[in-house]
Amino acid sequence: MTIDTIIVGAGGRGNAYGNFALEHPADLQVVGIAEPDALRRERFIGLHDIAPSMAFEGWQELLASGERKAATIINCTMDRMHFDSTMKMLELGYDVLLEKPMSPVLDENLQLVQKAEQTGCLLQVCHVLRYTPFWQALRAVVQSGALGKIISVTHRENLSFSHMAHSFVRGNWRNAGTSGPMILSKCCHDFDVLLWILKKRVRRLQSFGSLMHFRPENAPAGATERCTDPCPAADTCKYEATRLYARAGSGFPLNAVSWTPTAEARLEALHTGWYGRCVYFCDNDVVDHQTVTMEMEDGATVSLIMNGQGDEECRTMRWDGTKATLYGKFAASGDEIRIHHHRSGEVETVPVIARDSSGHGGGDFGIVRSFLNTIKGQPDDSVTTARESLESHLLAFAAEESRLNNSVITMEEYRNRF
Ligand SMILES: NC(=O)c1ccc[n+]([C@@H]2O[C@H](COP(=O)([O-])OP(=O)(O)OC[C@H]3O[C@@H](n4cnc5c(N)ncnc54)[C@H](O)[C@@H]3O)[C@@H](O)[C@H]2O)c1
Repeated sequence: MTIDTIIVGAGGRGNAYGNFALEHPADLQVVGIAEPDALRRERFIGLHDIAPSMAFEGWQELLASGERKAATIINCTMDRMHFDSTMKMLELGYDVLLEKPMSPVLDENLQLVQKAEQTGCLLQVCHVLRYTPFWQALRAVVQSGALGKIISVTHRENLSFSHMAHSFVRGNWRNAGTSGPMILSKCCHDFDVLLWILKKRVRRLQSFGSLMHFRPENAPAGATERCTDPCPAADTCKYEATRLYARAGSGFPLNAVSWTPTAEARLEALHTGWYGRCVYFCDNDVVDHQTVTMEMEDGATVSLIMNGQGDEECRTMRWDGTKATLYGKFAASGDEIRIHHHRSGEVETVPVIARDSSGHGGGDFGIVRSFLNTIKGQPDDSVTTARESLESHLLAFAAEESRLNNSVITMEEYRNRF
């Protein structure tokens, strides 16, 4: 059975999910597009052979008639557009696959969950990690009891220095006022998988972090406001933009600079666009490192460390249980899970199925498959309901409040506030 969908927002994410339809036309067909950028919209129309009457300049135009035009919508607009658009989509009866975070405004998350429950529509949030072979393997180990009772977890979200600069200094998620706090934008995924694997709620948490490095006072002497100007640090600065972006090719992060896949188009975009700016002179205010310490309901402790100065983009973790210790690495360079059994001293390598070609370790296609299965009435056990996603978002908001107010948050009280 082929399910039809309209993609709203033909940027990085809209294309990632659109690619699923191109590779699996018997499962998903993209019949409509809403995107204000004419170049992106036309490219999408061509790729998916969309009828002119189903191409819209934005979600507002798509929904204006009040008629439902397909069974589902994949909402890939930016964070601050999620709430108004998704509320309307649910009112019109669409099942919605919504990009994370649901909303950077706490109260709006609750309203979205309530709206989905009132309308009976499916609202599934793109917590892509759940749908990867790596996280499913890690979860299976923990839930098998092979590690014993979990006492302590250290989980690191290591952003590479270039991804940090691209997304959280120069790009879409640099400013809490236009996107949201970084611990929500980047780590709602991490809270989600931790809760999903531990199957326990958080009792208390506290958080520290700041914007330590990407400030004007840390700029190299004489640095210019754009890397396309003659900057004295051009040969030594690791963030120099023409080195990072002025090349041919496609995909993340190059498409964010220009969808025209040539070095010349990218260089031209760097002269005026966000990504040519010096990282020390941007309008960024989100943190560049943050830690969250959590005490679970059974007393186990979990540390989440988010860091933007990594050499390699990866998540790494250590799970200490009463029987064994697990070391893991989730990375494009190779997924690894090793269990060190305490009594025998034996070291066991856990096989992880190879990732498919889609982004986020195979999660991008995995979540679309899960969404389609849920619509067909065959939900898998990874499926995340909007209500379940709410808890990961609440933890992120609570962590931000703790960081800003220097407080320890008791989650039961926090949940009862809303
Ligand atoms: N699940 C994940 O792991 C993951 C990863 C990256 C981003 N995201 C989330 O996905 C969302 C989109 O991120 P992205 O990287 O694709 O951003 P993007 O900027 O590449 O794409 C957003 C698109 O929305 C379009 N748009 C703007 N106004 C619109 C309107 N009124 N109607 C329809 N479209 C409109 C923009 O022109 C743009 O093409 C964000 O919420 C982001 O946080 C999730």
